[in-house]
Amino acid sequence: MTQVPNPRVCIIGAGVAGLTSARYLQEEGISFTVLEATRYVGGTWRYDPRVGTDENGLPLHTSMYKHLRTNLPKPTMELNGFPLPKEAPSFMKWETVYKYIQDYVKHFDLEKNIKFLHNVILISREENLWKVKHQNVVTGEQFEDEYDFIFVGTGHFNKPNYPDIPGEEMFTGTIIHSHDFKESHTYKDRRVLIVGAGPSGLDIAIDVANVSKALIHSHHSKAPFKTVFPENYKKKPDIKEFNATGVVFEDGSYEDIDDVIYCTGYQYYYPFLDKSCEVEWRQECVMPLHHRMVNINQPTMLFLGAIVKACIFVALDAQARYAAALAAGRFTLPTKEKMLEEWNKQVEEIRSKERPLADLHVLGDKEDDYYASLTAESGIARVPRHMIKIHKMLLRTMFQDLYTFRDYVYTIVDDENVTCTLETENTYL
Ligand SMILES: Cc1cc2nc3c(=O)[nH]c(=O)nc-3n(C[C@H](O)[C@H](O)[C@H](O)COP(=O)(O)OP(=O)(O)OC[C@H]3O[C@@H](n4cnc5c(N)ncnc54)[C@H](O)[C@@H]3O)c2cc1C
Ligand SMILES: *[C@@H]1O[C@H](CO)[C@@H](O)[C@H](O)[C@H]1NC(C)=O
Ligand SMILES: *[C@@H]1O[C@H](CO)[C@@H](O)[C@H](O)[C@H]1NC(C)=O
Ligand SMILES: *[C@@H]1O[C@H](CO)[C@@H](O)[C@H](O)[C@H]1NC(C)=O
Repeated sequence: MTQVPNPRVCIIGAGVAGLTSARYLQEEGISFTVLEATRYVGGTWRYDPRVGTDENGLPLHTSMYKHLRTNLPKPTMELNGFPLPKEAPSFMKWETVYKYIQDYVKHFDLEKNIKFLHNVILISREENLWKVKHQNVVTGEQFEDEYDFIFVGTGHFNKPNYPDIPGEEMFTGTIIHSHDFKESHTYKDRRVLIVGAGPSGLDIAIDVANVSKALIHSHHSKAPFKTVFPENYKKKPDIKEFNATGVVFEDGSYEDIDDVIYCTGYQYYYPFLDKSCEVEWRQECVMPLHHRMVNINQPTMLFLGAIVKACIFVALDAQARYAAALAAGRFTLPTKEKMLEEWNKQVEEIRSKERPLADLHVLGDKEDDYYASLTAESGIARVPRHMIKIHKMLLRTMFQDLYTFRDYVYTIVDDENVTCTLETENTYL
């Protein structure tokens, strides 16, 4: 079904998802082109001090902030076959990761296959081929190419999800989304409201609370965080409404607010997919996908990186190896009926728990099973179990204290065992 002799692959996006796939396609000897809308590799790992649009009028893609350090430790941020610098700390700054990605591109000589400043505007399926329309964002010139496979690696932390809160138009303070958060010093001595307690909400709250007069944190997270916050930090429930000077919360309490940062997440966003691609995307998900990756209706189209709650680099590397093996014809997919049946099971499970369809993209507790099933189906080398152990230990240290979880060093012993060290302590996992 997906066996194509001498396939041509179009990779969309030169972030880690696109670059890892490029590397493995190259190793398979498969011809491919990477179309990248900006002049940069690394996607969201490049910090840009600007907000709004870039020099070519495109919305700024990156969501990086200036003082970001990774929220996953070093062994989980390393791509196969290309070690991170020995001297890099356990939790790196974005600069280190960005440099590492640039070095990855040099090491595997990938740049020659990347068309920078080419924005993909339309993908359609015609006569058993993919037609890809793309535009040079500087000259405006448009192109159309044909391919056998499409690897979509456009990221999903770039289209902000804004809440819809009554009275917002009356509010006289500033409001931004975390996508546009750059650094905390502009909030010095201000009364700041942060909405949401996902990874960005927590990270930015801690950063801003260090300089702001007050940090009001509105969220409904049930995660068992035990962090002791400074005295200027106040937890609040969800927001009921704004007025000119502040916010009323659902418990009826009111706070004066100068500035709001919505850390309310991002939307899946694939505006370039024509109906003929036979894949549905909405704010919370893209579907139906086999292994959270393969478009079940058109299985020569793959979505790389459409996952959350995992060791992302490790997962992207595994997905890239699976995708390259598929394009190379090293394995065949199950039948469409079989893939749909599996997918429907996932949907039913989500519905029975009254969970949102966004859960289709969550690895979480299923991360190890996910890697096992990729290997079982495609024959790619299995992701070692120590990655899962690191992730579990990391979550424990995060729940314990958001101020200290980055002080731990994780060292791999063998395929299953890891040590986690804090100063002189040494704990076997
Ligand atoms: C603030 C922040 C912190 C994070 N911290 C961590 C962390 O500590 N550890 C971790 O593992 N992960 C972290 N992540 C997750 C991160 O998203 C992944 O690590 C990974 O970089 C995702 O790579 P990607 O290639 O899927 O997407 P991206 O990096 O977003 O790259 C997508 C690329 O596609 C291009 N593109 C988009 N649309 C088009 C189009 N139509 N045509 C052509 N090109 C297009 C974009 O310009 C971009 O270069 C973080 C994410 C954010 C936003
Ligand atoms: C808080 O700010 C001080 C002074 O700028 C800095 O030294 C310290 O590292 C910051 N702490 C945190 C948790 O960001
Ligand atoms: C906003 O509401 C609070 C609480 O009801 C009130 O104290 C405050 O004066 C209101 N602000 C304005 C500008 O009306
Ligand atoms: C992990 O460590 C345990 C205990 O030391 C050991 O029995 C086991 O064999 C190790 N796992 C591997 C894969 O070597």
